[in-house]
Amino acid sequence: MHHLSARKLVVVGLGYVGLPVAVKFAEAGLDVTGIDIMEEKVEKVNAGVSPIEGEEPGLQELLERVVREGRLRATTDYGPVAEADYVIVVVQTPFDARRREPLYTALRTATRSVAEHLSPGTLVVVESTVAPGTTNNIVRPILEEVSRLRAGKDFMLATAPERVMPGKLLYNLVHLDRVIGGIDENSTRTAMELYRKVVKGELFATDALTAEVVKTTENAYRDVQIAFANEVALLCENMGVDVYVVRELVNRAPNRNMHLPGAGVGGHCLPKDSWLLAFGARGKYEPHLITVARSINDSMPRHMADLCEEALRQAGRQVFGSRVTVLGVAYLEESDDTRNSPALPLIRDLEVFGTSVVPHDPYVREIDGLRVEKDLRRAVDGSDCIALVTAHSQYADIDLDWLGSLMRTKTIVDGRHVFDRDECIRRGFVFRGIGRPSTA
Ligand SMILES: NC(=O)c1ccc[n+]([C@@H]2O[C@H](COP(=O)([O-])OP(=O)(O)OC[C@H]3O[C@@H](n4cnc5c(N)ncnc54)[C@H](O)[C@@H]3O)[C@@H](O)[C@H]2O)c1
Repeated sequence: MHHLSARKLVVVGLGYVGLPVAVKFAEAGLDVTGIDIMEEKVEKVNAGVSPIEGEEPGLQELLERVVREGRLRATTDYGPVAEADYVIVVVQTPFDARRREPLYTALRTATRSVAEHLSPGTLVVVESTVAPGTTNNIVRPILEEVSRLRAGKDFMLATAPERVMPGKLLYNLVHLDRVIGGIDENSTRTAMELYRKVVKGELFATDALTAEVVKTTENAYRDVQIAFANEVALLCENMGVDVYVVRELVNRAPNRNMHLPGAGVGGHCLPKDSWLLAFGARGKYEPHLITVARSINDSMPRHMADLCEEALRQAGRQVFGSRVTVLGVAYLEESDDTRNSPALPLIRDLEVFGTSVVPHDPYVREIDGLRVEKDLRRAVDGSDCIALVTAHSQYADIDLDWLGSLMRTKTIVDGRHVFDRDECIRRGFVFRGIGRPSTA
């Protein structure tokens, strides 16, 4: 039996989502244990050091405080689940894009470990993003079979999908509205009570399946909108029109909210969540629009590589044997997150062209085994082309004359609308950009 006053929470998975969740609930007065299989992460958290290297306002300070005050501790041991009133599972849920199937290894393993220690009266919450149906059809049977307890009778089960994103982890967690779906009313109500302790946004109660569809639809919506913006950008390039001017004026028409085009879509979530949504209806309905949207967004890094080739040609250099500096390998500005970053396919495409690539990023040390340069001067020294993938604020401050004096060939390919095109051309650069008129 649990006492209400105990209010013990276990958070399984101390990643981009799990760590801020654990820290925030600890601040709210719960007794929190974070479980992760990575010893290194566990040690860092116990030392009060955030393993996330990007800018996360408030996270480091709050982590240090709740660990010092004894409200949060981390471990690799699932023992504390037995004493928990609440267990939040928020491990990674990647997707096999080729087979179009979710990869639930982490989710299944974590669920099984939770089930081995689960005791009656506990609420289990799936906070990972999952394909519609997963909470009821995958998580529930594992919990029931392994624990020999019955969902809805002996323990409660709900899903409360996250809306955080790197750079705004704590802020989004607290301030955004949330959708909470239990497998029954009691589960939903208990999960609502739990999240009320940290969420200041509105909480909306629904069933687990609807909540899963809402979460994956949110991200599919964004992916499709970005693909639309990318398609318009490609049309604009071929008409000699600036897509950013077009977008601003389009958005002055009522009910228009054209998204930003760019060098590609990355991150743990967006590239997979459309597929997770589609997976929920697999064998019954094959989506068209979201499939095309995915392929447009996936084609943008290759287009960046083509623009590099074009810019170099205009500057009188062959792409083969040139040196290209890729500015930004994180998928998002001011973040260290490189998961599914468009920088990687761009780097690989450039390598296929026979260029030597120097990746630069202020927050990242390596990507897919490649060393990433942290020093901007060293990264651009002797370069033939700048390919900007991530709008880190550092890049907006680059002095073009300084840049030009270091580069061997003065070409810029802007994938995020960071540079002033006319200024670049005035300073003697050959300029290309996603959705921008070429200088040819
Ligand atoms: N990153 C985001 O901004 C974001 C936003 C919304 C939703 N989500 C969703 O939240 C979930 C987690 O994402 P994330 O970015 O935090 O992932 P992450 O990879 O940063 O963190 C997952 C953590 O789980 C740990 N883990 C894996 N297997 C485990 C196990 N068996 N037991 C204990 N720990 C285990 C990993 O070591 C890792 O530290 C995903 O489903 C994702 O789609 C992420």
